[in-house]
Amino acid sequence: MQRFFILFNQIYRMKKLYIETYGCQMNVADSEVVASILSEDYTISEIKEADLILLNTCSVRDNAELRIRKRLRELGALKKRKLGLQIGLLGCMAERIKEKLLKEEAALDFIAGPDAYRELPQLIEEASGGQIAFNVELSKTETYDDIDPVRYDTNGLSAFISIMRGCNNFCSYCVVPYTRGRERSREPQSILNEANILIENGFKDITLLGQNVNSYQWNEDGILLNFAGLIEKVALLSPLVRVRFATSHPKDISDELIETIAQYDNICSYIHLPFQAGSNNMLKKMNRSYTREYYLERIKTIRRIIPDCAITTDIIAGFCGETETDHQETLALMKEVGFDAAYMFKYSVREGTMAQKHFADDVPEEVKSRRLEEIIALQQELSLRSNKADIGKEFEVLVEGASKRSKEHHFGRTSQNKVVIFPKMNSGKGDYVRVKITDCTAATLKGKII
Ligand code: SAH
Ligand code: SF4
Ligand code: F3S
Repeated sequence: MQRFFILFNQIYRMKKLYIETYGCQMNVADSEVVASILSEDYTISEIKEADLILLNTCSVRDNAELRIRKRLRELGALKKRKLGLQIGLLGCMAERIKEKLLKEEAALDFIAGPDAYRELPQLIEEASGGQIAFNVELSKTETYDDIDPVRYDTNGLSAFISIMRGCNNFCSYCVVPYTRGRERSREPQSILNEANILIENGFKDITLLGQNVNSYQWNEDGILLNFAGLIEKVALLSPLVRVRFATSHPKDISDELIETIAQYDNICSYIHLPFQAGSNNMLKKMNRSYTREYYLERIKTIRRIIPDCAITTDIIAGFCGETETDHQETLALMKEVGFDAAYMFKYSVREGTMAQKHFADDVPEEVKSRRLEEIIALQQELSLRSNKADIGKEFEVLVEGASKRSKEHHFGRTSQNKVVIFPKMNSGKGDYVRVKITDCTAATLKGKII
């Protein structure tokens, strides 16, 4: 009875937190860290019950920021109706716009940059006292390695582990090195501990995350652990748990890493390898530090060592000075590789980047849009072709749950990260089943358990 009373009292005293996450997977992982940092005082709730709403924001393209600005106006209206509601802004936009945001956005009580989340309890308290509270300091060392993230929005099977933060690459179009600061790797034992906790809790699909995971490096007592070494250690924890990673930079996709992926069945045959643009001229201006020829050679090596590997990419259309010939080279590279999927964007100028300072954003909007449409249409064809090539093949599929469209069907994922829909038979969530592919669209595979 007394225990019940204590528990009731604890829950009763807990305030309610709602987090809205924008941008990349790193932000999803960070929101889980934030939920953990605030877990002494707050439990995760629905927005309508929240005492505190946090927006974890993204600055990578202008339209991402515009969407968040719009959301802030909506939340401002909510705040007027709900006394005591606090609103905080986290993430890359906090870092990019800093104090200016607090002045411009009446709804905001405080802002915290990506390396300041440990300070959140203090910032919230300061803001409660009516002070303007912000901390956007970037750190050279913060990796939140001792914090066990609260997996509050989970299917119970898939989880992210952040293994490094920041980026040193300074691609000329990109804001990330400015919003996330310098690259730093996380202590390996803390990564393995986090993976072990996930495994004990039944998770079966772990993605190692960073802006540039394959440049992971940890030096201890003169012994260097690189990304290939780290992913091997994670894969060895349990043969029943799949390991993925994102994102890789082409410059660091070494033979050693490709061979490690091939060597372990539970390291997924899936590499996301953004190429951004097909012409050497554009790649140089983007400061990507590789050529078209180098990229294509890496693809050949991946295909030789891991023949069943799915390869996906990111593409930017209409970067500064992009000619029709440059654009054609992007389309030609896409065809040559035959990507399984792609994330495709129109170039968006970011203040403070090298491109904004040194190059004119001179591709007219309608040309950018037309080129992007051509890229998307081609990728649609390539994705369909890639899926059609799977018809008749068998795959090991991790069952993730019931299909949204049909009660009689489950959906799951192959090692190649493709979604498969199939009749349930006796399968349950979290099982590995063998599925033969019988049909497909450009987005999904359909099959049956064999
Ligand atoms: N670190 C990862 C990706 C980070 S951002 C990498 O290097 O691959 C995700 C994607 O957003 C990038 O790959 C790029 O395609 C796109 N992107 C980044 N800055 C952009 C900009 N200014 N305009 C349009 N797309 C951009
Ligand atoms: Fe941005 Fe380039 Fe770093 Fe990726 S590698 S986050 S695109 S600067
Ligand atoms: Fe966006 Fe920041 Fe990620 S700018 S893409 S949330 S690192």
